[in-house]
Amino acid sequence: MNAIEKQIKKIETEYLQEIKEAKTLDTLESIRIAYLGRKGHIADLMSTLSSLSLDQKRTIGPLLNQLKKSCHDAYDLRKEQLAAKVKTKTSLFDVTAYTPHQLRGSLHIYTQLIDTLSSIFISMGYAIADGPEVETDYYNFKALNIPDHHPARDSHDTFWLMQPDRLLRTHTSSVQIHAMEKTKAPLAIFAPGRAYRNEATDATHGFMFTQGEILYVDKNVSMAHLLATAQTFLQTFFGSGALEIRVQPDYFPFVEPGVQISGSCPFCTTGCSICKHTRWIELLGAGLVHPNVLKMSGIDPTIYSGFAAGFGIERLAMIKYGINDIRLFHSATIPFLDQF
Ligand code: PHE
Repeated sequence: MNAIEKQIKKIETEYLQEIKEAKTLDTLESIRIAYLGRKGHIADLMSTLSSLSLDQKRTIGPLLNQLKKSCHDAYDLRKEQLAAKVKTKTSLFDVTAYTPHQLRGSLHIYTQLIDTLSSIFISMGYAIADGPEVETDYYNFKALNIPDHHPARDSHDTFWLMQPDRLLRTHTSSVQIHAMEKTKAPLAIFAPGRAYRNEATDATHGFMFTQGEILYVDKNVSMAHLLATAQTFLQTFFGSGALEIRVQPDYFPFVEPGVQISGSCPFCTTGCSICKHTRWIELLGAGLVHPNVLKMSGIDPTIYSGFAAGFGIERLAMIKYGINDIRLFHSATIPFLDQF
């Protein structure tokens, strides 16, 4: 065996070994280029042919052709094997396979409601205000023109705490007082927050619920401002430009006159189960801030007037989304929470 024949043998052995070890189609391709490419090892050998004698050419020529062929064959075979492997791997991914429903977190309905309401009032120039849930008699009652032994206290079934003069606020109207003491007039605030009443729970009553309180105090504030604000707010919240409001007299010690504001049912024109076939839904307690209340908070009622309104946030949401049980808001019922 002469040197060239040895060289051919060596290249063949090395090539077949490398091909056998190739794990990916990419590696296989680079091996092919290194050996069978235009500047590969086999091309190098071919180029030495011209310097050989005719006799040598006769023996080496066919050997080189044989080498080329066996290299190509080995390459084709390995390529097929590797391609088949890729295929089996891919077919493990079954696009029709069942995957369990992925539970994704979201903002709680309360957070969403408070965000929506806050942006409605911010857009009307109101600031967001806050106050404590544990209150004193003064902020929850007296400063709101409800002195000791006033009969209005009966309608607020109060949770009194073990500490003297501490209670869980029965409405967010207490925030009116904190805001007026802090800011004085003029002011415009929206205060969302929890309120507590010691009553039995059922589908429409909770011992804890959420209220939104609106207070606007300035010079010459009148009932017209209250009504325009209530209508704009309700139209925006229910997304019903046609929503009208109805006003009826009501009594709250901290407003004079006091009113009950209803909205025309956003869901029907002739009566439906949501409006109990009356076409009206009671939505807000409201009125012009009582001069005594302004006075007690250090605002001169001969210069300033104001309006206040309060509403139940769950109640608004129950009407808007057709929720039939207030207790769902605090339950961890995923199908309920998932809807929002
Ligand atoms: N605080 C009253 C309630 O809880 C609602 C209200 C607020 C009424 C402001 C008038 C003015 O029922």
